[in-house]
Amino acid sequence: MQDDTPELVKYATLNIPGHDPIELPVLRGTMGPEVIDIRALGKQGYFTYDPGFVSTAACSSRITFIDGAKGILLYRGYPIDQLATKANYLKVCYLLLKGELPDKEQYTHFENEIKHHTLIHEQITSLFKAFRRDSHPMAIMCGIAGALSAFYHDNLDIYDPEHREKTAIRLIAKIPTLAAMAYKYSIGHPFIYPQNKLSYAANFLHMMFATPSEDYEVNPVIARAMDRIFILHADHEQNASTSSVRLAGSSGANPYACIAAGIASLWGPAHGGANEACLRMLEQIGTTDRIPEFIARAKDKNDPFRLSGFGHRVYKAYDPRAVVMRETCHEVLNELHIENHPILDVATELERIALSDEYFIERHLYPNVDFYSGIILNAIGIPTSMFTVIFALARTVGWIAHWTEMQEMPESRIGRPRQIYVGKTLRQVKGGRSRL
Ligand code: SDX
Repeated sequence: MQDDTPELVKYATLNIPGHDPIELPVLRGTMGPEVIDIRALGKQGYFTYDPGFVSTAACSSRITFIDGAKGILLYRGYPIDQLATKANYLKVCYLLLKGELPDKEQYTHFENEIKHHTLIHEQITSLFKAFRRDSHPMAIMCGIAGALSAFYHDNLDIYDPEHREKTAIRLIAKIPTLAAMAYKYSIGHPFIYPQNKLSYAANFLHMMFATPSEDYEVNPVIARAMDRIFILHADHEQNASTSSVRLAGSSGANPYACIAAGIASLWGPAHGGANEACLRMLEQIGTTDRIPEFIARAKDKNDPFRLSGFGHRVYKAYDPRAVVMRETCHEVLNELHIENHPILDVATELERIALSDEYFIERHLYPNVDFYSGIILNAIGIPTSMFTVIFALARTVGWIAHWTEMQEMPESRIGRPRQIYVGKTLRQVKGGRSRL
């Protein structure tokens, strides 16, 4: 098959009693399962029903591949663990956006482009002041991201590749500045401007923790760990927030509004909010002797409690990101000379118990990307309420890469799922006469 056109490999026949057999093409991509193309079903008077899209591919994509059974995650064909240890986040941004890792010249140009856009329009700082100080930083990020289109409307022709590229650069460059501002605003500290002499991750940490009154030196080991966390969260194919960005973008909405939709969806505790929920859960468990009580609650169908940081729609093996995250966790704790992190013991013991428990084994519930990330961020001194903001920061490149791919794909059209209607049948308002 060509690089981006699914290949017709056979036909499936759908036999519905009372209806002629319906032939459906079976397609194959470059990797992954075969796909039954059901587009013709609508004309035959049938819809398919798949709440949560468990068995439904909404698009074709060249960006990220996941094999959930084997715990494989590839960004443009490269394994995540190799990128996390051999590349840096900006190289991964270039890869996700353009399909190839940059050579030296391409990287220098791309990095300069990003550095040239780290500042935000000064008037945006007033927007922050409209929020209560105790606002959740994700509430601020949803609002500010959507408002960006009010400031950068000079490049909003979504059909112009140059406008799309400029917007991608602006979003990747500005999202750390905005994220750090959301934190500074919440603690009543002055905003810290970007320092373009610093690396992307070091610049973010500097904006988070520096103050105007004294020098702040970023620990290079922590900056590297932050950069790796950004890489691990950069993209994950058609997850809920990326699908939200694509659905919003399918109507022609501007990219900033689409990113705001992604941030809103990511905030949920079943998705990107799980890192914040996971740390709060580990703190709530508190000591290893209370783990059995929470394991029992996680199994109890009458209790809505679930183990945050466990389970995944796609991974039915260990999330490859969790493996790298666990290694990074130990690196950071060693660098910061944290011997007995209060909740690391709980996390380690919870993982051990869950992985040996029948309930979790038969449901293929393993730690996911959110299980260890909270411990690292907590050790670095980042407040729990900022965890999902950091996820959103890192995922912005994935969102804008998928948004761009959708704009470039000829098959893209407005997303409009159907439904099974189970409401009231036709009835008349008293005295009314139907024209149906
Ligand atoms: C992310 O999609 C992505 O790629 C997302 C993400 C990304 O990078 O974009 O990877 C990031 O969102 C990771 C997931 C973070 N969420 C959490 O850690 C929250 C806790 N996990 C669960 O809420 C759940 O596992 C989901 C939401 C992640 C997946 O839900 P599914 O696929 O709808 O699975 P399910 O609810 O059908 O669960 C299957 C079974 C059920 O039991 P039975 O009805 O079969 O008896 O497993 C059980 C569930 O009750 N189950 C759990 C559980 N997760 C699933 N039981 C206890 N604890 C859990 N965490």
